[in-house]
Amino acid sequence: MNMKHTILIAALLAAPTVQASGGGESFAATQPKWKAECSSCHIAYPPKLLPAASWKTMMGSLDKHFGTDASLDAAATTEILAFLEKNASRRKPEPSAKPVLRFTETRWFQSEHDEVSARLWKDPRVKSPSNCAACHTKAENGDFNEHNIRLPR
Ligand code: HEC
Ligand code: HEC
Repeated sequence: MNMKHTILIAALLAAPTVQASGGGESFAATQPKWKAECSSCHIAYPPKLLPAASWKTMMGSLDKHFGTDASLDAAATTEILAFLEKNASRRKPEPSAKPVLRFTETRWFQSEHDEVSARLWKDPRVKSPSNCAACHTKAENGDFNEHNIRLPR
């Protein structure tokens, strides 16, 4: 390889990688076991919505999961926890004695949604903020990009 080529390749390797999604954060990490086991009652909430400590606490108490029993065998629990921790939020957790389990109550979630009116959150087609797919049409694919939001009207 001559000198000119070597320099060209080095320049290409050094070029910053461009995000395909156009600004919005990516929540697209996926894993088959997680997708299968965590999407029967609500969409499989992306790992990036909570920090690792929160996932650890949640996966350690699936038998008491928000008033329901979502327990799994030990192997599945370990496999899913590893995926969640690896792709967890790196945002500094909010100061509190216990890890947050409901990301919909975090300041981050509330500020991303400050333009959603109280009336809309209670609309019968939305029911609750945890019902992501009521507005994010591609929530099931971990796509929360603003271009794929349709507010019920
Ligand atoms: C048997 C049904 C069921 C299964 C299975 C289940 N969940 Fe849930 N989950 C719930 C219910 C019910 C809530 C509370 C929903 C609400 O109050 O709006 C919830 C809430 C949550 C929340 C908090 C959402 C918020 O409002 O901030 C997270 C995070 C969550 N689940 C993660 C998981 C993970 C991870 C798994 C797989 C290991 C899982 N869930 C499997 C029933 C389930
Ligand atoms: C009532 C409709 C509605 C519901 C339900 C809803 N969202 Fe949103 N979401 C919005 C709107 C509106 C925005 C703001 C878009 C903007 O700023 O342009 C938004 C923004 C976001 C963003 C930031 C997107 C970006 O690219 O900056 C994320 C992430 C997000 N929502 C996640 C969720 C998750 C996860 C859930 C379910 C737990 C959810 N949302 C439920 C309406 C909703």
